[in-house]
Amino acid sequence: MQSRVALVTGGTGGIGSSIIERLASMGHRVATNYRDEAKARAWQERMRARGVEVFMTPADVADAGQCEAMAREIEKALGPVDILVNNAGITRDTTFHKMNAQQWNEVIATNLGSVFNVTRPLIEGMRERRWGRIIQISSINGQKGQYGQANYAAAKAGMHGFTISLAQENAKFGITVNTVSPGYIATDMVMAVPEDVRSKIVAQIPTGRLGNPEEIAYAVSFFVPDEAAWITGANLAVNGGQYMGW
Ligand code: CAA
Ligand code: NAP
Repeated sequence: MQSRVALVTGGTGGIGSSIIERLASMGHRVATNYRDEAKARAWQERMRARGVEVFMTPADVADAGQCEAMAREIEKALGPVDILVNNAGITRDTTFHKMNAQQWNEVIATNLGSVFNVTRPLIEGMRERRWGRIIQISSINGQKGQYGQANYAAAKAGMHGFTISLAQENAKFGITVNTVSPGYIATDMVMAVPEDVRSKIVAQIPTGRLGNPEEIAYAVSFFVPDEAAWITGANLAVNGGQYMGW
């Protein structure tokens, strides 16, 4: 397969790290953003020790100007970005009647505003080159809703609305746009859920366990090769059977 440049936002996190490692193992050159330089450099060293070289540039995905600068920095260092995985995300869980505007706005800006901020500076180049892969990391909770996550579920459902519109607009340009909707994966984000609540959630997963980041990375990689050129606008559930829409 041709070696391409891939940007995975939030690459330093649990799922992002696995996606980066998987895309690198397919021969692609990989980049990510960071906010905390010291933390990111330590992560970069750990990836290097695993044989994965990652280009990093600072950017808050909730800030359009920083995302524009990030896109140009990556292009300067590695060349045009052909594969984009919109993965960076946060939670601010609380029931809606207790939610404040900050908890709402932070989640919408980071999880949904980011798809505009990051995709917009990259889409024109993909259209000119007539090849692109854009993959949103949404969530099972964008599909089924979740107690305590009105902000997060709204943002994650919105990500797939973005996918299916962008897929239509860009199909003729060799660009596919798809969503991966993970269930509960063993990363810091899920470990932040109180243990008693988490064990009740795991009890609802037919496979009887949390997912692994590698299982999400595999699903993302499925959309990348040329053979996947006719798969666009899909929402791939990877959730151990916890939610089965059709
Ligand atoms: N269904 C029905 N009732 C529920 C419930 C549920 N799923 N979860 C909590 N409740 C009930 C409690 O039993 C309790 O009821 P009583 O008052 O009758 O005792 C009540 O809700 C508590 O409500 P509060 O408003 O007081 O809520 P709280 O301050 O205790 O916190 C919460 C509630 C923050 C939602 C907490 O339950 C929680 O953290 N839940 C997990 C949310 C979750 O799944 N987050 C996913 C994070 S990981 C992620 O997001 C990744 C991904 O995409 C999968
Ligand atoms: P994680 O380990 O907490 O990683 C999140 C990553 O996003 C980190 O690299 C973080 O960087 C980055 N990030 C957060 N806010 C950012 C911002 N404003 N600007 C730039 N980067 C930012 O979480 P994860 O579990 O890997 O989750 C990755 C994605 O999968 C998220 O979109 C999440 O919603 C989604 N997801 C996760 C699960 C799950 O069960 N874990 C399930 C479904 C969907 P910092 O280090 O700077 O914070």
